[in-house]
Amino acid sequence: MSNQRTLVLCKPDAVQRGLVGRIVARFERKGLKIAGMKMLTVDEALASRHYAEHLEKPFYPELRDFITSSPVIAMAIEGENAVEVVRNLMGVTNPQGAASGTIRGDFGLDLTKNLVHGSDSLASAEREVDLFFEPDELFDYEPTMREWM
Ligand code: RTP
Ligand code: MG
Repeated sequence: MSNQRTLVLCKPDAVQRGLVGRIVARFERKGLKIAGMKMLTVDEALASRHYAEHLEKPFYPELRDFITSSPVIAMAIEGENAVEVVRNLMGVTNPQGAASGTIRGDFGLDLTKNLVHGSDSLASAEREVDLFFEPDELFDYEPTMREWM
């Protein structure tokens, strides 16, 4: 049993294209729990903290310009092995190679506009949830259908 909490972003392209509902539904139907959810515009300071590992990469300016270009939906998603399960539901980074049935595989074509972010490890997840959510924006509740999942 490893109950984990991870950060998911519906990136600006997902919000602009009206895909948020369909994306959130995939996490819900899998049996994951939404522990927090909000809309915000990522500013350059938050982008540089969130993507600290990529600051020196050649693609960072494009990534920063994209992620700050329009609002995102941030979610704290919780469940058994949630970090890996979310990454599997998202598909690999480049939507052109992402498997059908994954979010990126079904909805995307562009490496930058790849719809979603999911934390890549438990350590990243804890850091990123703290970055996007205040403690009182995270909710602890017991889904009544849990025993059936
Ligand atoms: P994310 O952090 O957004 O969930 O994506 P990821 O883990 O699958 O990929 P990561 O390596 O963390 O890269 C972050 C985002 O940067 C863009 N990227 N561009 N031009 C390039 O070579 C390149 N490589 C990565 C992608 O949009 C990726 O989501
Ligand atoms: Mg990443």
